[in-house]
Amino acid sequence: MNYLKNIELITTGDGSHSLYVKALKESYHSYAGAYFEARHVFIREGLFVLFKQLARSNKNVTRPSLSDRFVVKEDNVYRSSFKEGEVINGLAASENERPYPEILEIGWGTGLNAILSFEQGLLYNCRMRYTALEPHPLPLFLVERLNYRKFLDARVKDYFLKLHECAWEVEYDLGVITNDSKFVKHKVTLEKFVPEKNKYNLVYFDAFAISKQPDVWTLANFKKLALMMKPGGILVSYASNRIFQNHLIASGFAIEKIPGPAKGLQRKREMVRAKRL
Ligand SMILES: C[S@@+](CC[C@H](N)C(=O)[O-])C[C@H]1O[C@@H](n2cnc3c(N)ncnc32)[C@H](O)[C@@H]1O
Repeated sequence: MNYLKNIELITTGDGSHSLYVKALKESYHSYAGAYFEARHVFIREGLFVLFKQLARSNKNVTRPSLSDRFVVKEDNVYRSSFKEGEVINGLAASENERPYPEILEIGWGTGLNAILSFEQGLLYNCRMRYTALEPHPLPLFLVERLNYRKFLDARVKDYFLKLHECAWEVEYDLGVITNDSKFVKHKVTLEKFVPEKNKYNLVYFDAFAISKQPDVWTLANFKKLALMMKPGGILVSYASNRIFQNHLIASGFAIEKIPGPAKGLQRKREMVRAKRL
């Protein structure tokens, strides 16, 4: 179904925009806060956990605080306990040892999760290679109206539109400002995507809800993701429904139910983080 014909811009509870799809009666993000949801589900509970894994696997990192106090909350904004600019990958002895973690997003949509990830890569000095799947790209005029730039660090905010403007299927080099991070978007469904095995360290599963798009939340799709991920890789999603959990377990993941975005947010009290065994 092409649901892009009837889509409208909405303002969510934290002042950030989202999109409402009339045909699905579904929004791209939580009504309570698009920015806040993305920061919590994908950055705090996904990317920061990957950073922690990378730091742990780096012999040069010895500070115990990394495992014990990785994430702190200040003024409703989640931060890492790394100091800003603290080197994660630069601690490696040589350029070849610098990790290049692979992130895969299912449902790129507005691009909010990607730009927030590059922002954190910049702040905590970790490059990444980010692959996004999206069968229904948004028209640029709509993306231009989204107010995400005002939530972003000045050094990365111009990349928000660049990610939308760059060509599909071509790897884009984000340059030194993001520590040589790379970005590629594929105009394809997860079902049709031809994957490389054993590649991804982190998956953001951000499809529309299972009640709206049950064909995306299938056992076959989670088995496919398991094959594409590295052992120990992390998958995060805002959802926590039983079918999703069962499919993950049957596909070779260990799951954790963890608190969702925040008390009082309308969408979810619980979310799932899964680890590829
Ligand atoms: C919840 S919305 C997008 C959220 C997005 N990450 C964001 O922050 O804007 C779900 C997205 O999944 C995309 N989608 C729908 N079916 C898909 C499929 N089979 N495979 C991958 N993505 C799909 C939709 O077009 C939509 O952009």
